[in-house]
Amino acid sequence: MDKLLIRGGRQLRGEVLISGAKNAALPELCAALLTGQPVTLHNVPRLQDVSTMLKLVRNMGVSAERDDNGTVRLEAGDLSNPEAPYELVKTMRASVLALGPLLARFGHAKVSLPGGCAIGSRPVDQHIKGLQAMGAEIVVEHGYMIASLPAGRTRLKGARILTDMVTVTGTENFLMAAALAEGETLLENAAQEPEIVDLAEMLIRMGAKIEGHGTSHIRIQGVEKLHGCEHAVVADRIEAGTFLCAVAATGGDVFLRHARADHMDAVIDKLRDAGCTVAAQEGGVRISSSAPACEHLKAQSFSTTEYPGFPTDMQAQFMALNVIARGASMVTETIFENRFMHVNEMVRLGATIHVEGKVAMVEGVQQLSGATVMATDLRASASLVIAGLVADGETLVDRIYHLDRGYDRMEAKLRGLGADIERISGAAA
Ligand code: EPZ
Repeated sequence: MDKLLIRGGRQLRGEVLISGAKNAALPELCAALLTGQPVTLHNVPRLQDVSTMLKLVRNMGVSAERDDNGTVRLEAGDLSNPEAPYELVKTMRASVLALGPLLARFGHAKVSLPGGCAIGSRPVDQHIKGLQAMGAEIVVEHGYMIASLPAGRTRLKGARILTDMVTVTGTENFLMAAALAEGETLLENAAQEPEIVDLAEMLIRMGAKIEGHGTSHIRIQGVEKLHGCEHAVVADRIEAGTFLCAVAATGGDVFLRHARADHMDAVIDKLRDAGCTVAAQEGGVRISSSAPACEHLKAQSFSTTEYPGFPTDMQAQFMALNVIARGASMVTETIFENRFMHVNEMVRLGATIHVEGKVAMVEGVQQLSGATVMATDLRASASLVIAGLVADGETLVDRIYHLDRGYDRMEAKLRGLGADIERISGAAA
């Protein structure tokens, strides 16, 4: 298993290119299933999860070619195998996003239940509830969701969908299913993330009739057919937020090219409250911060919540900043039930953190000291890299396959900003 070796204490300076968003690219690759015509996606990030999704759609019979410039060309003619097998779904929950498009276009689908993951049970009951409201018949057998249309029906039907909680991929499945359904679908408590807006914009380019995307109420008029399109994946606000927290922690001055400040209000507000200078500039976002953080930054309390609130996907990374900032802070995780697994690893680096249920109480310390730590999930990995960048001495982050799922060449980008970080391949380690 690959590891990252980090020697802390360097400030970060220069410019970094923010890649396309993982959580937009994944549903958009599935959206290509909605038409038999060619679909071209630009700015697709080079990530393990994207490779897994390409394997999944190719396994169904989709032709999918990726070039070296981040462009993926897909063509989902008649699929030989409209199925998402357990072997692939167990490695990536986002495979559930195949369910809506397959059902909408082919009238049937067989998708493995994703099973749990490190950060929580993450059921898909709301996906099933919403698609059943659209007329789908879904049974769960031997760990698979077997979905079909009732006899005599060739299309899903529009429906009013109100889920028990806001669900990002649930909203995405409903958007894709409703685009080809008969009649109107109204999503009453839709997710509002920028990745939802980006998917809706791609579907509209394919001929879908959608309005209200980006708000909690989305209205979709189904059409009979969708055509191909060309679309560029929106920049990754979580990758950008991760780099903002890294610069805040180490000190320095960095321009994040392609980052969208308007997608990161909650995080940028907290960084400014902490004492960083963050400015939207032509083509990106610039951050400058003084070191050491314990003298110049004030720790910030926050609670994660649905967009546009503070993102759960930024909780671990901002905690890494609080750990070495001045004062006490309270971090509350309201979305997932087990998203504090980075805490024990940070304590090994010298952090002072106490967890009580959904709340982590952090006491800022003057200095962390390098150690060997273990990544447990995608964003926890990123928070350990940030902690390693400021720790005194060497930090070895193990199991960074978690990091590779969602970050496009992170160590190369950090080295480009002056960090002392290198990948040690599993074979050599
Ligand atoms: C998406 O996951 C993201 N993944 C996650 O990013 C992100 O953390 C999450 O949204 C919340 O913002 C992708 O977009 C591929 P949810 P998703 O459905 O859609 C519960 C990352 O680090 N729920 O919005 O799976 C669920 O358990 C990843 O990039 C149900 O109970 O999240 C959670 O508590 C991690 N039943 C809450 O709702 C359901 O059917 C929100 O989950 C669906 C969800």
